[in-house]
Amino acid sequence: MRVLIFFIVVSATVAVEMTLRSTPATRAPALCNTCPPGFELTDNNLCKFRSPYQQYESGLGNEPGVGGLKTALPAVRDGFTPQQIDLGRYLFFDPVLSGDGTVSCATCHQPAKGFSDGLKTSVGLHNTKLKRAAPSLWNVAFYKKFFWDARATSLEEQMTGPLYSPDEMGTTREHLLETLNGIAAYRDMFQEAFPSRATGAIRLGEIYTAITAFESSLISLNSRYDQYAHGYHEALNKAEIEGLNIFRSFVARCAECHTPPLFTNQQVAVIGLAAPEGSTFDPGAQETFHDASLRGAFKVPSLRNIDRTAPYTHAGRFNSLREMIAFYSAGRGHEVPRNEKLHIHWHIWEPKLTDDEMDRLVDFVKTLTDESFMPRAPEILPSGLAIDKNINQKAQLSQTLHTH
Ligand code: HEC
Ligand code: HEC
Repeated sequence: MRVLIFFIVVSATVAVEMTLRSTPATRAPALCNTCPPGFELTDNNLCKFRSPYQQYESGLGNEPGVGGLKTALPAVRDGFTPQQIDLGRYLFFDPVLSGDGTVSCATCHQPAKGFSDGLKTSVGLHNTKLKRAAPSLWNVAFYKKFFWDARATSLEEQMTGPLYSPDEMGTTREHLLETLNGIAAYRDMFQEAFPSRATGAIRLGEIYTAITAFESSLISLNSRYDQYAHGYHEALNKAEIEGLNIFRSFVARCAECHTPPLFTNQQVAVIGLAAPEGSTFDPGAQETFHDASLRGAFKVPSLRNIDRTAPYTHAGRFNSLREMIAFYSAGRGHEVPRNEKLHIHWHIWEPKLTDDEMDRLVDFVKTLTDESFMPRAPEILPSGLAIDKNINQKAQLSQTLHTH
């Protein structure tokens, strides 16, 4: 009984707070009926991914070796409708998805920062400092494992982490459904995005599908490097080509793990980083796979749009690309804490790169920037809540915008 009363009081308080803060949009914003750039609309109203990389799937023109420029892409998550993708965009930017209406996915995954947040480690609900850095979301449509420790195997599974973690968005399944179902504009938008269902309440699966659809539309495969890979040799200058060659060389071995075209082989690897000062050592994938040889292993991050996502590593250890690259050159295991026995990956060695070579590597990885398919942040949210001003302005500054 006491629990019940408590529950009613809490719900009532939350309800009052929500009405004070937000005036839900009375009319639902019209959902986009065309696909984002990079996708083609099929006769069944589905968005199919299209990329010059698909011509390499047949094996024609494949180069041998891991650094191959004409390497095919892994399978992609596509086949969502334009309406689902656009609904996902609203949800992604809407703080109404959090327990108290203050944190959205975009709080930590900001478009102008490569869908990361510029912090060493992210900050969640009530300014809670998290243990790890927010990874970029570009090209997540191609990933099989999610999180630094590879503990989730789908985008849908991944998002239940931040949504329901009390330190991140701090909502519950019940609260999320109650909130969204209480907003008429969202009810209409879900009906439009999922038309085959009988009219009724918004379901959790539909929320996950829409956000997955939006995340899967974040494609970045049209950088100057890509133009070079497809045969336009003038796209890179001499210093950048030198950098690419070092990157692919058997001395530096970067491409063994940061394999083109995604610049990750999607595996976990121990590179032997120390914990940042004042933090305890993060066991990483050891916990996911219950395997001591994976102590300190993390998912190889993509280097796409890496120029936008400083500071680097799972704990934001390095502020610049130059410092990150100097780490690889400083010798295998040089940072391993004395009390730790780590099984450092065999591709981490002693490349003894010269200052010049490290500069060229920086030149090269900066050619992996492509934000031409940047989505636009919504101007008005269906919840009536304000979008974080920083997110909005910076997202609009950065690029050519499409109608999404
Ligand atoms: C409070 C900050 C914060 C919020 C809010 C947040 N994230 Fe994240 N996100 C992170 C951090 C930190 C990680 C890495 C955590 C880890 O690896 O343990 C992450 C990881 C991810 C990943 C995995 C990427 C990869 O390459 O493995 C995806 C996808 C993602 N978030 C999507 C979302 C979505 C969708 C939402 C909203 C439902 C969201 N995030 C909300 C901070 C946040
Ligand atoms: C054995 C596999 C492996 C090799 C070889 C390797 N890396 Fe990495 N790289 C990783 C892993 C794993 C991380 C993430 C480590 C962490 O966060 O603890 C990483 C992180 C990075 C980052 C930071 C990315 C981010 O989003 O924070 C950059 C930049 C980078 N590597 C560049 C390079 C370059 C340049 C080379 C060649 C000199 C190289 N790497 C060689 C596995 C590798």
